[in-house]
Amino acid sequence: MTTLTMEKAIQFELRLAGRMSRLGTETAFEVLNKARALERQGKEIIHLEIGEPDFDTPKNVVEAAVGALRHGWTHYGPSAGLPDLRQAIAEEVSRSRGVKVNSDEVVVVPGGKPIIFFSLLALADEGDEVIYPNPGFPIYESMINYLGAKAVPIRLHEEKDFGLDVDELAALITDRTKLIIVNSPQNPTGGVLSRQDIRDIAEAIGDRNIMVLSDEIYNRLIFDGEHYSIMSVPGFKDRTILLDGFSKTYAMTGWRMGYGVMRPDLATHITRLMTNSNSCTASFTQVAGIEAIRGDQSSVEHMRAEFQRRRDAFVAGLNRIKGFSCRMPKGAFYTFPNITRTGWKSKQLADALLEEAGVACLSGTSFGDYGEGYLRFSVANSLENLDKALERIDQWTKKNL
Ligand SMILES: Cc1ncc(COP(=O)(O)O)c(C=O)c1O
Repeated sequence: MTTLTMEKAIQFELRLAGRMSRLGTETAFEVLNKARALERQGKEIIHLEIGEPDFDTPKNVVEAAVGALRHGWTHYGPSAGLPDLRQAIAEEVSRSRGVKVNSDEVVVVPGGKPIIFFSLLALADEGDEVIYPNPGFPIYESMINYLGAKAVPIRLHEEKDFGLDVDELAALITDRTKLIIVNSPQNPTGGVLSRQDIRDIAEAIGDRNIMVLSDEIYNRLIFDGEHYSIMSVPGFKDRTILLDGFSKTYAMTGWRMGYGVMRPDLATHITRLMTNSNSCTASFTQVAGIEAIRGDQSSVEHMRAEFQRRRDAFVAGLNRIKGFSCRMPKGAFYTFPNITRTGWKSKQLADALLEEAGVACLSGTSFGDYGEGYLRFSVANSLENLDKALERIDQWTKKNL
């Protein structure tokens, strides 16, 4: 018999599941931590690394949540979401995407991210192939790898305004392709796929039984052109999982509320994943979500216009810096300048700008291998700070290039 004594502490090895070695992360949070450490040493950093609106959540939405708390919306709710919110989302998606959506096709979850995770959990077996944009939101690749599926990157091309080449897409589709992830407006490039781009993608998929995860979390942040969803393409409604949410549109990143829209049979499976993992999304936040969707939308337009002003100023400034060239992003709140003419690798340049110029941004490689040669700057900061950041980068390049 072994006896446990307080004096003799045993070192237990941590025996993680093998799949944990395949789990990636989002570098934005790591850079934020590094920047905060520099700030603790007394350095002043301009934060252009993190992808969240710098605005407060609109007042009417906050008031709705406070009212909901006072009225007892503090209990478990249905795993798929409150019926009234699902109905409000179904109406909004029907209107904006031009397809008839019913509330039983809507699942409300804590943020947009769980729809990525749950869709992959529900659909991708080990060895199945999932095509995803590269450079792209890093969580796609991380989750595909984690589940033991095969991550198949489709390259986004700067010269196509960060659209993809449909012939390349067609060549990547195989009998094992289970899911294709499309993201527009896009993180990190700010690219927006045109109606024709989306139709070309749909044509490349044809009548194969492949699902499309259409990440449309930035759909209300468009500066040029229009948002067009693959869900709107005839024949694609049943093969599309539309991801949208409240984080970016209503500046509600910390509330954790998003949703997926999908065929009702898949919705029941995603709901089971919710029951198993979260039980439900917080009830009082969902009541506020109804107000966000049905209430006054002027703050959405105000934020969009403000991001556009900053984009215009920041891109013009970047293009004046030695070695930088930046396309005008059509949506989201990111700029993705090409920095190959600086002669620096993306990661080294991002590190140097943080440590020596006090500007936090992300290396393009945080978004996949095809992000080499680029940096991502978020314009979710004041014009004053964006100007200051441009000045600092300019000074740094004059000294170091
Ligand atoms: C493309 C994309 N999809 C999904 C998300 C996740 O959004 P949420 O914070 O609502 O989970 C983000 C957040 O940065 C994103 O950029």
